[in-house]
Amino acid sequence: MSAPPVTVPQANPGAGYRALKPEIDAAVARVLESGWYVLGQEVRSFEAEFAAWLGDAVAIGCGNGTDALALALRALGLGPGTSVATVSHTAVATVAAIEMVGATPVLIDIEPDFYTMDPTELAAVLDRPPAGIPPIRAVVPVHLYGQPAALDRIMAACRRHGVPVIEDCAQAHGATIGDRKVGTFTEAAAFSFYPTKNLGALGDGGLVAARDAELAAHIAALRQYGWRTHYISEAVGVNSRLDELQAAILRVKLRQLDAQNERRRQIAALYDEALRGTSLLPPPRRDGVGHVFHLYVVRAPDRAALQARLRAAGIGTGIHYPAPVHLQPAYRDRIATGPSGCRASEAAAQQVLSLPLYPELSDAQVAQVCEAVRRL
Ligand SMILES: Cc1ncc(COP(=O)(O)O)c(C=O)c1O
Repeated sequence: MSAPPVTVPQANPGAGYRALKPEIDAAVARVLESGWYVLGQEVRSFEAEFAAWLGDAVAIGCGNGTDALALALRALGLGPGTSVATVSHTAVATVAAIEMVGATPVLIDIEPDFYTMDPTELAAVLDRPPAGIPPIRAVVPVHLYGQPAALDRIMAACRRHGVPVIEDCAQAHGATIGDRKVGTFTEAAAFSFYPTKNLGALGDGGLVAARDAELAAHIAALRQYGWRTHYISEAVGVNSRLDELQAAILRVKLRQLDAQNERRRQIAALYDEALRGTSLLPPPRRDGVGHVFHLYVVRAPDRAALQARLRAAGIGTGIHYPAPVHLQPAYRDRIATGPSGCRASEAAAQQVLSLPLYPELSDAQVAQVCEAVRRL
């Protein structure tokens, strides 16, 4: 007997388009008619609107979130002969960006409860780096699944060593610590607009947020061959431009972002309730932070069976991520880790399971997931 169709997919970027179709279609038509398709008025307007929404930063659009991290690293002088500390339990993009600029990644373990960088291990690694690696000159914490990392403790450790911090905000548009949004705490921060993100384009897109105007101007130059004046390269840059179509679409979607994050939180609360009394633990929340639930991740000792049972009920799930970066074939045996050997990251990779979560889920679909979870 074949499996029933998936009626509640884990992610559904097409639903995001359909929910805003008239505005998005009008924005696309406006760009097509304009005759200007890369780095133009739509990008400038989106950058201004995103910066106003974020607060206290200059925004520079670019090709994708991986490039955003690489541009920030490059602008802060990271490259060959330097190391950058980040986590192994992340999208591989975080580590790929470090290697793109020629720097050496060092992978710190996670706090098992929150899945984000363990500040205690980071401090130990900054005090006593693994043998044989270049000096650590930057740290990239990831606000994973929509929940901020322990930034105060991470930044305190980095301050002691004079090392800049670059926030990876690819999964955390709108997440807060106190009353400030992530992406405004550190010298530079990177956002991704991959279609499934909380703010998703209908293609690739990314953005660097920088607090210092000169650093922002440097990053803006680096994204286009190091040009400050057209055709004159003052620095060696790359081509990582945001296109006008994506910027125009992102302008429409940015206006909905706060309401959509609220809907994500509402669905997460309903899932929390449904999990009560089951063997599954809801995702833990840090005190004093605003979680934006890019993903709703449960921990399941018997993940394969759980995934199969949900699939039989028409519910799609995801695994973010099935292997920590230091165990993936391209990285295994050649990337330095902290003293714990990333054991908590390895354990998480065996058990994490993401339930469907996006703002366009209907109440009936949410109820279907809750019902299936209660029956587990
Ligand atoms: C944590 C994290 N960092 C970086 C990225 C890279 O973003 P992009 O796919 O836009 O290059 C992603 C998204 O894939 C991500 O989830």
